Amino acid sequence: MDSVQNLELESAGGRPELVDPFDRAITYLRVSVTDRCDFRCVYCMAENMSFLPKAEVLTLEELDRLCSAFVARGVRKLRLTGGEPLVRRGIMTLVSSLSRHLRSGQLDELTLTTNGSQLGKYAAELKAAGVRRINVSLDTLDAEKFRAITRWGSLDHVLGGIDAAQTAGLKIKINTVALKGVNEDEIPHLIEWAHGRGMELTLIEVMPLGEVGEGARLEQYLPLSIVRARLATRYRLDDVDDRTGGPARYVRVAETGGRLGFITPMTHNFCESCNRVRVTCTGTLYMCLGQEDAADLRKPLRASEANDLLFAAIDEAIGRKPKGHDFIIDRHHRRPALSRHMSVTGG
Ligand SMILES: C[S@@+](CC[C@H](N)C(=O)[O-])C[C@H]1O[C@@H](n2cnc3c(N)ncnc32)[C@H](O)[C@@H]1O
Ligand code: SF4
Repeated sequence: MDSVQNLELESAGGRPELVDPFDRAITYLRVSVTDRCDFRCVYCMAENMSFLPKAEVLTLEELDRLCSAFVARGVRKLRLTGGEPLVRRGIMTLVSSLSRHLRSGQLDELTLTTNGSQLGKYAAELKAAGVRRINVSLDTLDAEKFRAITRWGSLDHVLGGIDAAQTAGLKIKINTVALKGVNEDEIPHLIEWAHGRGMELTLIEVMPLGEVGEGARLEQYLPLSIVRARLATRYRLDDVDDRTGGPARYVRVAETGGRLGFITPMTHNFCESCNRVRVTCTGTLYMCLGQEDAADLRKPLRASEANDLLFAAIDEAIGRKPKGHDFIIDRHHRRPALSRHMSVTGG
C-alpha cells in the first residue's frame, strides 16, 4: 500500500469528531485486546471459563484499524485492556504500531491495564513505544491471599514486574478491588506501600458483571463509603478536584503525600461527564459499561477495506450512547445486573 493510500485510510475524510446526544465528546477508548488471561480472579472469572474461538477475535491488524478509526474521529486516549492484554500474542506489534498516533500528536496517551504478570518481559519495550504510565491491578501484598484471589497468579512475579516497570521509567497506578473480609484490613498497608514507592492507588468497588459463582458477589461487595470513612479516622484525606470524565474521585492522603482514588460505580453517579466507550476483542462496541446495548463493528470492518462502513456504524452507535447506567447488587437481585464478564469489556 503506498503512503498516499495509507494517509487516506488514516483520515476521517472530513467527518466530525464524535459527540453523543448528550453533548459529551467521546475522547477515550478502552479496547479489550483478548478475553484470555493467565489469572482467574474470583470476582472476574469463573475457574473454568470458555474463551472465544480465534476466528471471532479481531486480528492485530483489525484492532489497529479500529483504534485508528477512533483516533481519526477525535479519540485522544487509548487504553488496552482485556482479559490480560500482555498475554495476547504479538501485543507489542500492536502497541508499537499504535504509537505512531502519539508521534503524530493525534493521540495524547497510549496506556494499558495489566495484572502485571508479564511486565518483567515487556516493561522496557512499552516505555520505548511511548507508553508513559500503566495501571497494575493488585489486591493484596500477602502471597497466600494473592493466590486465593487470583487462583493462578504469583505475587512475587507481579512484584518483580512492578519493579521492572518502575526501572523502565513507567509511572504506575495500582488498582485494588476492595473485597469484604478479604483485603479490607490491608487497605492502609497497600496505600502506604504504593505511596511509599511513588505510585498512586485507586480502590474499586466490586461490580455485578458476569456469573462468578452463587452468592459470591454479595459476599464480596464492600461499599467504598465505608472504606473511606474508616480511612478518615486514620488519615487526613484532602479532596482533589481532578475529574477525568470517569467514575474515579481523588483525595490526597496528607500523611503519605500520595493520591488515592475511589471508583464507586455503585454509589455515585458519574455518567454526566462520561467521555468513554469500550470495544471488545470481537469488535463489539459498548457505549456504556453498565448497559447491554452494543454495536457490532467487526462486520463493517471486515466488509470493506475502506473505513466508510465502519465510520457509519460508529456514528450510529454513538448516537445511541445512553445517559447513564443502572447497576444493582442487593438481595432482590442476586443475579449479575449484566451477564457479560469484566474480562470481556475490560473494565
Ligand atoms: C478486567 S481487568 C483487565 C486487565 C487486567 N487483566 C487486570 O487485571 O488489570 C481490569 C480491571 O477490572 C477489575 N475487575 C474485574 N472484575 C471486576 C468486578 N466484577 N468488579 C470490579 N472490578 C473488577 C480488575 O480488578 C482490574 O483492575
Ligand atoms: S481481573 Fe484481570 S487478571 Fe484478574 S482474571 Fe480478570 S482479566 Fe484476569
